[in-house]
Amino acid sequence: MILHDAAAAALRRLPPETAHNAALWGLRHGFGPRATASPDPILATRVFGRDFPNPLGLAAGFDKNARAANRLFGLGFGFVEVGGVTPRPQPGNPRPRLFRLPEDHAIINRMGFNNDGAAAIAARLAAPPPGILGVNLAANADSPDPTADFESLTTTFAPLAAFLTLDISCPNTANGRVFLSPGPLADLLARVRARLPDNPPAVLVKLAPDLEPGQLEPILDTALAASVDGIIVCNTTITRPPDLKSAAVRERGGLSGQPLFAPSTDLLRRTYAYTHGAVPLVGVGGIASAEQAYEKIRAGASLLQLYTALVYHGPGIVGRIQRGLADLLRRDGRQTITDAIGTA
Ligand code: FNR
Repeated sequence: MILHDAAAAALRRLPPETAHNAALWGLRHGFGPRATASPDPILATRVFGRDFPNPLGLAAGFDKNARAANRLFGLGFGFVEVGGVTPRPQPGNPRPRLFRLPEDHAIINRMGFNNDGAAAIAARLAAPPPGILGVNLAANADSPDPTADFESLTTTFAPLAAFLTLDISCPNTANGRVFLSPGPLADLLARVRARLPDNPPAVLVKLAPDLEPGQLEPILDTALAASVDGIIVCNTTITRPPDLKSAAVRERGGLSGQPLFAPSTDLLRRTYAYTHGAVPLVGVGGIASAEQAYEKIRAGASLLQLYTALVYHGPGIVGRIQRGLADLLRRDGRQTITDAIGTA
């Protein structure tokens, strides 16, 4: 869905999944832009023991099959998360399953973890990546034992990635959310940890925005007790804010983009208030400007990710957010990102 900003606009005339595949093909074949300037040094930051050139990463789901990971670093992202990967290849849900909401700068997707499976994707990651690479892990939709799926994925991908994300918040498959309660989550985290090698990657969990009252705190207690290295806040939402204008609003699936900014930032704020710096948070959901990136940091994020903004603004958005964020930090007299975390 992205190449140059003008090409991104042209791609928006194609059906969404066709446009997305065309953009990935183009990136793989060297048609994407290259970030020319090195990032402003004020954006460099150290989180879970790794040095990030800047805090803005690509969220999971864009490069599900790790076909363009190296090129995506070239767009200027400080880190790239590929996947979601399941142990066995999986076709995902029937098409259409990806919908643009242009008037709302949003997307609804019910992809259902379409991916080439762990073996094929691991083979593509065999060479060391040019930056900090994460892999998003998920259970097969028809798996009789989702925990065993995460165990085998950990064994496969731990040697290949700087971080692993346990996606326990997918709204689109039967097994997507079974770990959003303390018992199953504690068991999952213990069993994943037992599979980690020496010199392990960071282990992150990704939260859903659609939690019942009282559901968040036990999940956070469990994650902290298991010493996870980070929490990603958050995945897409199955709720539909009342003011959405686009025709596709009635499609089933997870909503991302602008309408997710407020609820995901609210969840980030609540997560930060409860954990208070005990674990780094990755803020994701609706980021499309430097101001929104800064708001996530001030709400408690150490790192940021985006996906939907690429579709509506093209790849130039990556550099624009970074330059604007550096300006905002300086305006407020901050020396580093860390100085600004949680100050809202
Ligand atoms: C996603 N997202 C996602 N998340 C995840 O953990 N595993 C996945 O496989 C996917 N797949 C996926 C596909 C598509 C088409 C979209 C739009 C999104 C969620 C994504 O990583 C992110 O959390 C949300 O999209 C919110 O960020 P933005 O898009 O509002 O910046």
